[in-house]
Amino acid sequence: MIAPWKTFSAGLAFLALAACGGDTEQAATDYRGDEALPGGGTVKEAIEARQSSLKEMGKAFKTISDQLKAGAPDLDAIKTSAATVAEKSAHIGTWFPEGTSAASGVETEALDTIWEKPDEFDAAVTRFEGAAPQLVAAADSGDVEAIGAAFKETGGACKNCHDTFREDDD
Ligand code: HEC
Repeated sequence: MIAPWKTFSAGLAFLALAACGGDTEQAATDYRGDEALPGGGTVKEAIEARQSSLKEMGKAFKTISDQLKAGAPDLDAIKTSAATVAEKSAHIGTWFPEGTSAASGVETEALDTIWEKPDEFDAAVTRFEGAAPQLVAAADSGDVEAIGAAFKETGGACKNCHDTFREDDD
């Protein structure tokens, strides 16, 4: 499993090099996909891990949305999904280490603004970290109206971050 992506990422690094006219200085200063991060693992592994966590969180969030639209929401499904969102929210601040930008050659929707405006990014993380536990509290209460309000609040925190720090994918 390891060899294929290593080849792939080496290919990407080569393409990046070719794109900037063989400017080796550029390649030496930027992190590459196969480069090790100070916190362990490679750049590519870190980006893929965060994307898979975000995907999982997106799925959980959609489950809540779907249930809220249902005539009789499945409160257990909402509870489980809210817990997943909150669990991820507690870690999201660690998913964007220096070096995991698109400059690595690994495909990512994470914008450079994350590292250019760290205080703003931290504020977006903090807003989300504050909202997600309230969604859990509302889910645990079983009060559908409260769940709806907390869902909206949390969704606002997702969007707030995506608006500034994630590449527009539409
Ligand atoms: C603090 C910033 C921030 C918050 C808060 C945030 N996201 Fe994101 N999200 C991002 C960034 C940046 C990316 C792009 C990551 C990448 O491509 O490496 C992303 C990507 C995603 C993806 C795509 C993952 C993939 O690669 O397939 C989904 C789905 C997603 N977010 C859902 C959510 C949901 C749902 C919430 C709220 C419950 C949320 N996000 C909150 C920053 C955030």
